Amino acid sequence: MQRYSLAQKRQGRTVAVVPTMGFLHEGHMSLIDTARENADVVVVTIFVNPTQFGPNEDFDKYPRDLERDRRMCEERGALAIFAPEAREMYPADSSTWVQEEKLSRGMCAKTRPTHFRGVTTVVAKLFNAVLPDVAVFGQKDAQQALILCRMVRDLNFPIRMIIAPIVREADGLAMSSRNKYLSAEERVNALSVSRSLNAARARLEVFPGADLDGLKQEMAAEIQFSGGRVDYIEILDAATLEEPTGDSGRLLIAVAAYYGATRLIDNVLMEKKRK
Ligand code: PAJ
Repeated sequence: MQRYSLAQKRQGRTVAVVPTMGFLHEGHMSLIDTARENADVVVVTIFVNPTQFGPNEDFDKYPRDLERDRRMCEERGALAIFAPEAREMYPADSSTWVQEEKLSRGMCAKTRPTHFRGVTTVVAKLFNAVLPDVAVFGQKDAQQALILCRMVRDLNFPIRMIIAPIVREADGLAMSSRNKYLSAEERVNALSVSRSLNAARARLEVFPGADLDGLKQEMAAEIQFSGGRVDYIEILDAATLEEPTGDSGRLLIAVAAYYGATRLIDNVLMEKKRK
């Protein structure tokens, strides 16, 4: 992988990487489009990273279809795929981790305490393999995007980070490889997640001073009413993931909820207008 990237760079081309766990959908494809707009050569990495799954999570049953992924990448103009085996990525006695320690505490880390350590470690390793000039991630995983930008800054990776907007199904459901797990009924019920996020944002647009705890309770009620089980609902400063203060910058409204055994995450961003 390094030889390929170095050869491209020697010929004066810039390289962008789009890291994924495969089972690609239109959300991933939009990242490839953004990568193509920002570099000459797009490399997609496809690796279901074992270190970011907890012991009782869905690593074994995470959907995989490398041949379909390969076709989709090719059609979309990605020039290379890096799809290593776990044993190539992690020597049996691998004992080094990359860990961000501030943004990785709340939200998803509460139920997935070792998740982000696995993400930062594997993305650092993927960066060292692909040697990209540009890396593209999705706002779908808002906390992940912030943590990875922090890692790149703190560890001086010479990489320009681009965070691309969430791609949704026509009815509003955020695209995710995990949507495949949903039954038809759960799929309909799960629309409450994006609906409650939009309703909260609309309320805050009109009433910037609205009580945030009350708003979160209303969102929780809507999600529970639809049969979802709320993991968290947060309204935070979008840059720091702390309680919002001041009246400038952006707010992140974020939800994680289970429909059946499937954990979905989604979020919206908005300008802060609080009084
Ligand atoms: P994965 O879930 O496959 O997502 C790969 C990239 O696609 C991430 O940057 C994610 O935010 C983005 N993405 C997923 N759904 C999206 C959507 N609906 N709209 C826009 N972007 C979307 O995230 C991971 O893999 C892994 O944690 C990884 C970073 C590859 C490390 O293993």
